[in-house]
Amino acid sequence: MPIEIKVPSLGESVTTATIGKWLKQPGDAVKADEPVVELETDKVSVEVPAPADGRLAAHAVAEGDEVAVGAVLATLEQGAAGASAPAQTKSAPADKAEKPAAAPAAAKPAAAAPQAEAPAQTDYDVVVIGAGPGGYVCAIRAAQLGFKVACVEKRATLGGTCLNVGCIPSKALLQSSENYHAAGHDFAAHGVVIDSVKLDLARMQARKAEIVGANVKGVEYLFKKNGITWLKGHGKVEGTGRLSVDGKPVTAKHIIIASGSDSANLPGIEVDEKTIVTSTGALELSEVPKRLVVIGGGVIGLELGSVWQRLGAEVTVIEYLNRLVPGTDNEVASQFQKLLVKQGFKLKLGHKVTKAEKTKKGVVLSVEPAAGGAVETLEADIVLLAVGRTAASKGMGLEEAGIELDKRGRVVTDAHFATNVPGIYAIGDVIAGPMLAHKAEEEGVALAEILAGQAGHVNYDAIPGVIYTWPEVASVGFTEEQLKEKGTTYKTGKFPFMANGRARALGMTDGFVKVLACEKTDRVLGVHIIGPCAGELIAEATMAIEFGASAEDIGRVCHAHPTLSEAVKEAALGADNRSINI
Ligand code: NAI
Repeated sequence: MPIEIKVPSLGESVTTATIGKWLKQPGDAVKADEPVVELETDKVSVEVPAPADGRLAAHAVAEGDEVAVGAVLATLEQGAAGASAPAQTKSAPADKAEKPAAAPAAAKPAAAAPQAEAPAQTDYDVVVIGAGPGGYVCAIRAAQLGFKVACVEKRATLGGTCLNVGCIPSKALLQSSENYHAAGHDFAAHGVVIDSVKLDLARMQARKAEIVGANVKGVEYLFKKNGITWLKGHGKVEGTGRLSVDGKPVTAKHIIIASGSDSANLPGIEVDEKTIVTSTGALELSEVPKRLVVIGGGVIGLELGSVWQRLGAEVTVIEYLNRLVPGTDNEVASQFQKLLVKQGFKLKLGHKVTKAEKTKKGVVLSVEPAAGGAVETLEADIVLLAVGRTAASKGMGLEEAGIELDKRGRVVTDAHFATNVPGIYAIGDVIAGPMLAHKAEEEGVALAEILAGQAGHVNYDAIPGVIYTWPEVASVGFTEEQLKEKGTTYKTGKFPFMANGRARALGMTDGFVKVLACEKTDRVLGVHIIGPCAGELIAEATMAIEFGASAEDIGRVCHAHPTLSEAVKEAALGADNRSINI
């Protein structure tokens, strides 16, 4: 029975293609996966492979014809064509020509490793382990590109740390706590007087849970829409082409590790997620603690510290270094520190916690200067441990499969996200780079496109970072300190929100925008913002860096008035000493 070779899916916005060249003529013997015809679109050039061994029976269209996605290209008489069976997806539909062209050979592996033989037939083209922002986005993009995709997830819901116990619930609580604080402290300045503002924490938590629920259900819907199979259970890599889910074998041409990260531990501190909590427990408190001690003055400590501080907790942050948020531009970090102290945060910089003992009343912490010195004790009702995250690479059979890990337990990959074991890739928090959901997403998309023979790429110089405190802190590109270290000569333009009309109208005048541009070429090298809606404003700066814009380019773009975005324009003009409103 002849089978039809059809025009594969060519990407979300591509509906037609032009027949380039026939690579096989009627009567030719073909092997499965051997290219049969070239298709051209305005975006990609794709070779359509034969879905099985056989003999090409007939062309259904001619070179130069325009064809729609799904149209029949040729018919194939299935049968032995004299070749040994190449890899093939088991239970592939008759129109399995809806597969992307063969992927380019993966870049050279980093080191030799034991190699399992790839199975001749596989259950899936792509199996992604982990359904966080890296994994689920990668699965969707791979499905869009025509791969048969499954995603392994052991959690009861999809979305990973970000949607379940990270970015989304924390932003829900940050918004609610900001509203509570504003109602009690800021509304009166607007002439809105509320005599008694009451906190309904149970309602606040329920709202957060509803938001999380809607988001994770949304990912489940997206899986269904894109024909992605959710393999529920714990994924373990066995070797090239092979893995298991709760012990059950699964095979795939490409295995992608997107297992994310876990909260880092500290010796002497035992997390119970009730009184000594990580971010997960800190999102679930059913009472506002009187005294919250946060260990680690990074992003998680300050965001979740802000939630509980606004709701009435006395928050003390113990930070090992002599500054907050390491890696952030120094000038921004020092302004940030002043504003947090003004809000009531107590900071113990240059200190470390060596012990945390649970008592009937709470926790007693032993704290000493980072450089060594007298130990003091500190009492807390709740302790939040937020000293970073570590790659989630344990218990997945990675080492047994010969996959190389670095000293910090991260999977080592090449520039195409390939590990040293053929057919196994990794993206997101489990590999090197900033542990950010959007970085993982970009990697997921890039890898799916690379596997489909396209030119997937991530520009690591244009990855924004945002801290969702009050005010927000956002940055993209190089800091002043990094430029000095690199020996790059640069110029600086700065504009305070105090001089921005919209910020005054909002009553949100803390902070500034800083634009760093190359002294010689005026190219934007870094933008750092502390102030209202910094997380939204940074998008323009990211776009500028991505497109290699100059500070003058930003300065010459018309920005709506009155908006906070005018502060970005004014700072860009400031790099050439020509800000207007200051
Ligand atoms: P972090 O790396 O941002 O901050 C950890 C802090 O703990 C650092 O300031 C470090 O110096 C300090 N520290 C380390 N050991 C210590 C010790 N023994 N005693 C006292 N202080 C110590 O890590 P964090 O806040 O846990 O966040 C983890 C990851 O999650 C980060 O990569 C972060 O980017 C990401 N994340 C991002 C968010 C966002 O984009 N808004 C939100 C939440 C997390």
